[in-house]
Amino acid sequence: MSDSVKVHLEGVSKTFSSGSREVTALEDVSLEVGEGEFVSIVGPSGCGKSTLLRLVAGLHEPSSGTVEIRSSRPGRPKTAMVFQEHALFPWLSVRDNVMFGPRNRKVSKREATEIADEQLGRLGLARFGDFYPHQLSGGMKQRVGIARALAQDSEILLMDEPLGALDAQTRTLLQEQILELRQQSQPTVLYITHAIDEAVFLSDRVVLMSARPGRIREVIELDFPLSRGPELRGTKEFAALSQGIWEHLRDEVQAAMALEGP
Ligand SMILES: Nc1ncnc2c1ncn2[C@@H]1O[C@H](COP(=O)(O)OP(=O)(O)OP(=O)(O)O)[C@@H](O)[C@H]1O
Ligand SMILES: [Mg+2]
Repeated sequence: MSDSVKVHLEGVSKTFSSGSREVTALEDVSLEVGEGEFVSIVGPSGCGKSTLLRLVAGLHEPSSGTVEIRSSRPGRPKTAMVFQEHALFPWLSVRDNVMFGPRNRKVSKREATEIADEQLGRLGLARFGDFYPHQLSGGMKQRVGIARALAQDSEILLMDEPLGALDAQTRTLLQEQILELRQQSQPTVLYITHAIDEAVFLSDRVVLMSARPGRIREVIELDFPLSRGPELRGTKEFAALSQGIWEHLRDEVQAAMALEGP
C-alpha cells in the first residue's frame, strides 16, 4: 500500500454462525483510509458498520480478505474506539478514565496526567478532571470518551455513532468540536453515523453501504475545505449532497426493513 495509506481492507467478508444459523454481515468490502483522512460510513441498521469497525480494531477476524493498518511508530496503539454509549469506568474520575490508556502503555503517571489534562482541555472539560462519570451530562460523558480515545494517540480513531445518543442541539455542538479537533491535528478517523448531515459536515469521504450483507454501494468524495465552519450547513452544496446521499440510502433502508420482515 502507498505511504499515505493508513488502513487497507481488501475483499473483506465476515460471516457469523450461531448454531445452524449463519449471517453474512459483510461481503467483499475493499476500502483504503489515508493518513489524516476522515471517512464516514453510513448505511441501514444491521448492514455491518459496527462489524467493519470491530474488524479494523482487531476484535473480529475476517472470514475472508485482509485488514492492514500501517504503523508509523513502534509501540503506537493501532486503534482507539469511541462508542455510542461512552463506556467510561464509573469508579474512576474523569482524569483517571482519560489516563487509563497511556498508563496501560506504561507512560509515567506525570506524563499521563499531562496528556489527560491536555485532551480534557481540548474538549472544554478542563474543570472536570476530578468529577466522576455519574456527575456529568450525556454530552460531557461523550466528550470524555473522545478525550480518552485521543489520549491513546492511536494510528486511527474508530468512532461508532459517537453522538447517536445525544439530543440534536448537543450533537450539533459536538460536531463542531470534532471538526475543530480535525482542524487542529488531522487524526485519521473512521466514523460511523446514521446522520447524513453529520457525515457531510465532517468528512472527506462518505462510504454508503448496502443492506445486509453489507457491501460498499457508493463512495462520495466531498471537496469542502478543511477550514469549513458551521456556515457550511446553510449552503446549497451541502443541502444537495445530503439530499443525494439520502436518495441512495433510502433504497437500502427499505431493503433492510424488508429483510427484517413483518
Ligand atoms: N458477534 C455476533 N454474532 C452473531 N451475529 C452478529 C454479531 N455481530 C453482529 N452480528 C450480526 O451481523 C449483522 C451486522 O451487525 P452490525 O452490528 O455490524 O450492524 P450495524 O450496521 O452496526 O447496525 P446498527 O446501525 O443497528 O448499529 C447483524 O445482522 C447482526 O445481527
Ligand atoms: Mg452498529
